This record gives sequence, structure tokens and C-alpha cells, in this order.
Amino acid sequence: MIHKLPNELNIFFGKYQWEEPSTGESGDKIYQINCKDGKSYFLKIAIGSNQSNLIFENQALAWIKNKFLAPSVVKFIKEPDVTYLLTTALEGQDASKFSILNISEAEMMKLLANTLRRIHQIPIDNCTMDQGLATRIPQAKKRWELDLMDKNISDPYESLIQKCNFQEDQVFTHGDYCLANIIIGKNNSTGLIDLGRAGVSDRYQDISLLFRSFKYYTSKRFEDIFLSEYGLIDYLDREKIEFYQLLDTFL
Ligand SMILES: Nc1ncnc2c1ncn2[C@@H]1O[C@H](COP(=O)(O)OP(=O)(O)OP(=O)(O)O)[C@@H](O)[C@H]1O
Ligand SMILES: [Mg+2]
Repeated sequence: MIHKLPNELNIFFGKYQWEEPSTGESGDKIYQINCKDGKSYFLKIAIGSNQSNLIFENQALAWIKNKFLAPSVVKFIKEPDVTYLLTTALEGQDASKFSILNISEAEMMKLLANTLRRIHQIPIDNCTMDQGLATRIPQAKKRWELDLMDKNISDPYESLIQKCNFQEDQVFTHGDYCLANIIIGKNNSTGLIDLGRAGVSDRYQDISLLFRSFKYYTSKRFEDIFLSEYGLIDYLDREKIEFYQLLDTFL
């Protein structure tokens, strides 16, 4: 059990049972709360500089409501040093759980390519969440200059800039389109979680992370399946895939 929750959350959780906390990639604390009535929630808690991601996630969840299946925000509380985001749980398993889901790797690629096409077709006219290069490159520069990056990365900021020589093809992007962030529900419905980096960006932001994520599970690439199911492009631009995978290491 965590201590010193804001009163609003204490009252809410008083009646429920906690599941063991897990810590995700970002260092946020994530708790799953299963209620006796069968309802389930997720509470994410971020401190310090991690808070901005949760603030963005809250905005993205509000924006995507009624456009794509995603958790609903139950409570968002911003304190000076801590931010809390309580959402409903999506039913199902995240796509990284191949074996539980009993879906073959090829079928999974088909499903995720199809889901990505639908995400990228969401109209962006009124979307103010900008994750384009004009935003991301200065952020990368700052992290490089402040020495905040993983020291094992050999490619420096200069290499990023050299590869950044293309016109952006902007769509609405998930921003962290890896298997663990897609929930597969009944009849293979797909829902989106972990939307802290969602916004308008190049379609390859998501394509590149999908391929990188798939690599953790299989050496097969399923590029043809991706192209025919995604359908919005004729070929894979390997330079853009490399660029966005490199850009991701600057986070
Ligand atoms: N609303 C939700 N519904 C269903 N499952 C969820 C939900 N939120 C989180 N999960 C489960 O918990 C895992 C971790 O959550 P999430 O992806 O939000 O955190 P994370 O990967 O640590 O992200 P971040 O880097 O933003 O902290 C997910 O992969 C998923 O299995
Ligand atoms: Mg995640």
C-alpha cells in the first residue's frame, strides 16, 4: 500500500482491494485496483520530471475519447510534486502476452497493422498535441546537452540531425506504439493505453516502434503482412524507421 494518497483517492480506494504495484519503463508507479463488483482501475503516480508525461497522458485521453477505444479518466490530481492519474482498465490482455491470447505472431502483426491504420486515419484538424520534429528535435538537443541520455548509445545528436532530412507526413500518432501498450479484448478488439506521447507526428513514429517492439518477440519481420494490412503506404522507408528509432533513444 502506498502512503499519503490525496484524500479524494483514499476515499475512493477505501472500499477496494489493491494488487501488487509494478513499475513501468518511465519509473511511474502503476497500481491495478480490482473491485469486488468486478470493475478494475489503474492508478499511475509520477513524481518530479516524470510528471509531464502523465499530464500529457491525461490530455490525450480526453482528446481521444469517442474517437478510439481507450481508458476513461476517473480522477486526475496534480499536486506540486506528485501527479496521479486514475483510469478505468480496458478489458483484455496487452498484445505482448502472445501466449495467453493464443494469437500467432503473424496474426498479431495483422491486428496491430490494422489498428495502426485506424489510428492514423483519425482526423487531426483540431488536435493541438504536437509531437512533430519542431518539438521533438529541440527536446532531444536539450537532453543531449544536459547529458541525460543513456551513455551506451553510440549515435550522438549530430547523427540524428544528419538523418533528419525528410518532409514529415503528419498524422495522429500513438507515440509509443509497442505491443505492451495495445490491449486486445474480446473478438480481437483493440484499445490504446500509455498515451503520454500521443499527438501529431510522422506516421513512422509509430511504424518504427512497432517494428522495434516486434523484434523483442520474434526474429521474423512480417513486413509484407504489415504493408498489406496497414495499406496507407506502398513500401517501408527504412531511413525513416532508423531515424525514429534513434529519436526514441533521446527520451
Ligand atoms: N487502463 C489499462 N487497462 C488495461 N491494462 C493496463 C491499463 N493501464 C496499464 N495497463 C497494464 O499495465 C502495463 C503498464 O502500464 P503503462 O503502459 O500505462 O505503463 P508504462 O509502460 O510504465 O508506461 P510509462 O512509461 O508511461 O510509465 C501495460 O502494459 C498493461 O499491461
Ligand atoms: Mg507501457
